[in-house]
Amino acid sequence: MRSSNGPFNWTAVFLFLSCLYTLFTPALTVKKQDFKTCDQSGFCKRNRAYSDTAISQSSSWTSPYTLDAQSIAFKGGQLTGIVLKNLPQSGENLRLPLTINFLESGLARVSIDEEKRQKGEIELRHGSKARKERYNEAEKWAIVGGQQLSKGAAVSKDSEEGTTKVLYGPASGYEAIIRHRPFVIDFKRDGETHIQFNERGLLNVEHWRPKIEKEPPKEGEENKAEEEQKIVDPAEDESTWWEETFGGNTDSKPKGPESVALDVSFPGYEHVYGVPEHTGPLSLLQTRGGEGNHDDPYRLYNSDVFEYEMDSPMTLYGAIPFMQAHRAGSTVGVLWLNAAETWIDIVKSKLSANPLSLGIKGTTTTQTHWFSEAGILDVFVFLGPTPQAISKSYGELTGYTQLPQQFAIAYHQCRWNYVTDEDVKDVDRKFDKHSIPYDVIWLDIEYTEEKKYFTWDGMTFPDPLGMQKQLDEHERKLVAIIDPHIKNTANYWVKDELVSKDLAIKNKDGNIWDGWCWPGSSYWVDCFNPAAIEWWKSLFTYDRFKGSARNLFIWNDMNEPSVFNGPETTSPKDNMHHGNWEHRDLHNINGLTFVNATYAATLQRSKSEAPQRPFILTRSFYAGSQRMGAMWTGDNQALWSHLKASLPMVLNNGVSGFPFAGADVGGFFGNPEKDLLVRWYQAGAFYPFFRAHAHIDTRRREPYLAGSPYREIITKALRLRYALLPSWYTAFREAHTEGWPIVRPNWWVHPSDPAGFALDKQMYLGSTGLLVAPVLEEGATSVDVYLADETPYYDYWDFELVKGRGMHTLDAPLEKLPLLMRAGHVFPRRDRPRRSSGLMRYDPFTLVVVLGTDAQGAEGTLYLDDGESFDYEQGAFIHRKFTYDAATQILRSEDIGEKGKKSDAYAMSMQGVRVERVIVVGAPAEWKGKEEVDVAEEGAKASAGTRKVDCVFHEASGKKAAWAVVRDPRVEIGKGWKIDFSSGARDKKEL
Ligand code: NOJ
Repeated sequence: MRSSNGPFNWTAVFLFLSCLYTLFTPALTVKKQDFKTCDQSGFCKRNRAYSDTAISQSSSWTSPYTLDAQSIAFKGGQLTGIVLKNLPQSGENLRLPLTINFLESGLARVSIDEEKRQKGEIELRHGSKARKERYNEAEKWAIVGGQQLSKGAAVSKDSEEGTTKVLYGPASGYEAIIRHRPFVIDFKRDGETHIQFNERGLLNVEHWRPKIEKEPPKEGEENKAEEEQKIVDPAEDESTWWEETFGGNTDSKPKGPESVALDVSFPGYEHVYGVPEHTGPLSLLQTRGGEGNHDDPYRLYNSDVFEYEMDSPMTLYGAIPFMQAHRAGSTVGVLWLNAAETWIDIVKSKLSANPLSLGIKGTTTTQTHWFSEAGILDVFVFLGPTPQAISKSYGELTGYTQLPQQFAIAYHQCRWNYVTDEDVKDVDRKFDKHSIPYDVIWLDIEYTEEKKYFTWDGMTFPDPLGMQKQLDEHERKLVAIIDPHIKNTANYWVKDELVSKDLAIKNKDGNIWDGWCWPGSSYWVDCFNPAAIEWWKSLFTYDRFKGSARNLFIWNDMNEPSVFNGPETTSPKDNMHHGNWEHRDLHNINGLTFVNATYAATLQRSKSEAPQRPFILTRSFYAGSQRMGAMWTGDNQALWSHLKASLPMVLNNGVSGFPFAGADVGGFFGNPEKDLLVRWYQAGAFYPFFRAHAHIDTRRREPYLAGSPYREIITKALRLRYALLPSWYTAFREAHTEGWPIVRPNWWVHPSDPAGFALDKQMYLGSTGLLVAPVLEEGATSVDVYLADETPYYDYWDFELVKGRGMHTLDAPLEKLPLLMRAGHVFPRRDRPRRSSGLMRYDPFTLVVVLGTDAQGAEGTLYLDDGESFDYEQGAFIHRKFTYDAATQILRSEDIGEKGKKSDAYAMSMQGVRVERVIVVGAPAEWKGKEEVDVAEEGAKASAGTRKVDCVFHEASGKKAAWAVVRDPRVEIGKGWKIDFSSGARDKKEL
């Protein structure tokens, strides 16, 4: 059990623990026995057994689910009907209402419920007050748009017997072929099947049934009873229907078995991605055993997995049940909208028949099998066809990434714990002393008085406002942790209000549930309850959360929820939430609801002055969490393997719609060697969320402590992040409006190149063409980077040309982060070193134009706003497109922003902010001798006309490409202008 020491005598505790760690860093391993394997989870085992039975019976297996043809109705883009589940023993047909919504966005949504539970015609056991229906409120938290039914969707007239066919999607190019007996759906795009439901016959809705009490075996007949039990179909194994015990905790299961399961096949698709959060490769592995495969399904059951292991399908802190399948030229996907414990099996098979004869373009098929413990079956179908289109429609559905404040994408300095307010101020000064930029310093749980949130430890933090004031002098921020467990102690006003207002999570008997977390005995706020959200909002006002200032933001940790004495370190499943839903129904959404409340609270509090965008870091998440803040990958370790794992984890989160992601730089547990720390900063400079963090038992490791040359190398990585902030912010804007990942894997950027589909050690930053391949191996002084095509790339630091499809080895001595620029792009930087991003607000820009050897030209964008308020929603931003046309040799800046009420005021505020340098990498050889360019700016006085500006050309030498620099073209970042490179060498007479 983890424990946190009290606030007394910190120095002694630190010294002692630091010494211990210096001498001995134990190898940390996950306590596997604390978490269920599939075999130990009743419904997982039953559904796998169901699939085994189907496979063993092969062609004689028929799914007992049929769609009652008489029941089918179609109206306004919605198909309804009744799926019948045939019970072989009784011959009874159970009614499962089916709805298929064909949406204007081109998505289809298939939902299956259970009539008996819907109508409440079931009996609960143990006097439970739980709702009788299957949980159907996941959409309330996860879905925010894209629900409009399609006007164009239509049932096809010439459907074959026993089939209903619906044409839908863009230009009616999509088809849902619904077979009635057994019930199967094929989703087609342009005549080809891309996704199949129940094709393997694994649809399984565990229906309600009364518990039949069995007589205990008569004396002498125990063996017989045991034998009888053994021959029972394992898919119908009753032993975990009514009660389930694990690790000494018993789940009372008042509703009996109620899992839902479905097989989803992707014919012709070899790669599947998504369903975070797990460690392991980006391209998901098979899960039914065999060399290099997992033995267990990927699990989604948000948990605080202490000392988590690498390359594992074990669950972690967050869950996004969204999967994409990809092959050259096509991406499709499914969102399994269920908030209960979920497992996903993946198997792949080579197609034996000629795939083309089947109308399928790939040679491998990926078959997935999803099962959730409770709730309705509710699946969205995405037919792509591109990864960009899928990210966009997923964003439309679940919400786009929040556009964060600018400080939030700069560098964050955290540890458990900065121990006093003087300590914080000292760290702040030391960053300045060493000219190292940072924006945010963090406080972990020790700042509170005995882990009571909304309080400060008066001994160690006597002057929190003074501390925040010092930070504010350099536009820096403070983030303080607030967890969902409320200390159960006398005279704690937050607890008293929680109890008196009746807003806590209850146990199965209807009493306030008491569990164990950092403060010891605790209660948990139930943020599913609208009244709890209102109350939570009231706690953050400046007069209630005393000592907090406008530059204080929030870290929501432990929100799975983490419960030290709970089953699998979390809440009992039979706990009760608002609306009488059991915890089992909504577990994976719990973390999201807490952040949602904090978002509402911090937004409201800022409204008392000037509204500012909230910043919240969360550990637990679900589909939709991207609307509210950032996530990080929890308690990693100071090991090379964990540095390496962070890339696929961050990339996977990005393609799964929650791209504001990062890992603890340096590793949370343990003390990193200096070279590991340096390499981690280099990689971290390319995490969308860039924060160093460390466990309470580790040695201090702020960058300025690293010593030469490590300190200088880390500073270089940090300055690179700061210089590229305009490019990062532009990438965040794309995530905010298009749903696109911020850092992008190869398959997403080059979707037609199969050789790059499994790559997860290199990534692109937004649409900038910057390709980073951080060193992830101990002692390595080079990295291999893969280029998907013949487009030239250049080394970011020395402009060396790297070209040709395939692997390239790049030099990477410790001081060098391997970073390439892809030809055809323009990206913005701000090169002046500052203490924090806020101080860069009016700094001039550098534009880097990266040209190919052919005539392709280049383009890129810049998005800029005040980085703080919501004024951008009313047009207060600059959005420019830069285009270099190779034929005319003109670089132009044009406006691509939409105007709003606040556009002019913002433009005024940015007047005079200019481009101070244009660097053209891969400049044409014919520019030799060029000494000037012609510059013209919109709105300039006619008399000013075209100006001549100095340009310095550097010839190519060796592998190094030619480049040119235009110094101070005196054009404004917010204005239209053009720089004409076609004019010749300067007329000497003019000089
Ligand atoms: C667990 C979090 O994952 C870690 O980052 C934090 O330092 C501790 N809780 C203490 O709050």
